[in-house]
Amino acid sequence: MTILLLSGIGNTGLPLARLLQEAKQSFLIASRSPAKLPEPFKGVAFDWFNPSTYENPFKADANIDRVYIVGPPVLDKLPQTKDFVELAIAKGVKRFVLLSAAGTPRGGLLNGKVHEYLAERGVDYAVLRPTWFNAVKQGLVASTVGNGKIAFVSADDVAAVAFRALVDEKSHNTEHIIVGPELHTYDEAAALLSGVLGRTIIYKHLTHEEGKALFQSVPLPEDYAIALLGLEKQIADGEEETHFHAEVKEVGKVHLKEYFEANREAFVA
Ligand SMILES: NC(=O)c1ccc[n+]([C@@H]2O[C@H](COP(=O)([O-])OP(=O)(O)OC[C@H]3O[C@@H](n4cnc5c(N)ncnc54)[C@H](OP(=O)(O)O)[C@@H]3O)[C@@H](O)[C@H]2O)c1
Repeated sequence: MTILLLSGIGNTGLPLARLLQEAKQSFLIASRSPAKLPEPFKGVAFDWFNPSTYENPFKADANIDRVYIVGPPVLDKLPQTKDFVELAIAKGVKRFVLLSAAGTPRGGLLNGKVHEYLAERGVDYAVLRPTWFNAVKQGLVASTVGNGKIAFVSADDVAAVAFRALVDEKSHNTEHIIVGPELHTYDEAAALLSGVLGRTIIYKHLTHEEGKALFQSVPLPEDYAIALLGLEKQIADGEEETHFHAEVKEVGKVHLKEYFEANREAFVA
């Protein structure tokens, strides 16, 4: 039995691959550049924007029965994901684990519609809804979240929940809100990072228009940038904080300061 990772070796894909390797679990990584995957990982060519690649994983391994999904980088992730999931079901896949986000509930933006579809499709599934991870790496210096608090979670902690959802004998068939062990504003995060690096990191509070220009410079399409700004507004309004206080949740182990210490190199300009 083989687990397919539709995640490249991205933020959660790499730590998840390591956990599966340690557990001696058979797995295959779908990537746009399979030749570039580090040893000993086995990859297969896959591109969400090229449906002719959707069959590749099943040609490479006839025993795929579970799939970890990090969806296509578009605003509405349902069309491509649904096409792939229907093919996978026809090929014998029994369980899907979807990476969504705390800020996007079932039926909502981005992965919300995929969440709804999986929950209603009659397959075994789990949906991971983590708060922000590595967002710090990408956007600590500037954003529109103001003084909103976030329970930053490490990608390793998200991968640990993904691992259980994939390998546990009984499918979870539910969503998992995943938070880090403490709440921080971006100003507090910048102060922690300054302490670790030994130099001052200033967090710049952006207006909506400045935030939009920043996302579009990535570059991201305008509708995607607006959706992400909507998620940042939720943080500014204190909504991310409510996930931290949720009754049912998974709490990661890695503190933000530990994350900065472990990834110091990534922040040294
Ligand atoms: N970042 C956060 O703080 C955060 C928080 C909560 C939820 N999320 C959710 O996590 C998901 C993305 O995570 P991320 O931003 O951290 O991404 P990521 O893990 O850095 O990237 C995902 C991987 O997707 C692969 N990929 C990109 N375009 C592809 C394509 N056209 N076809 C096939 N594979 C492709 C890439 O691998 P290859 O280069 O090997 O193809 C990449 O490594 C989103 O759904 C987001 O909503 C993120």
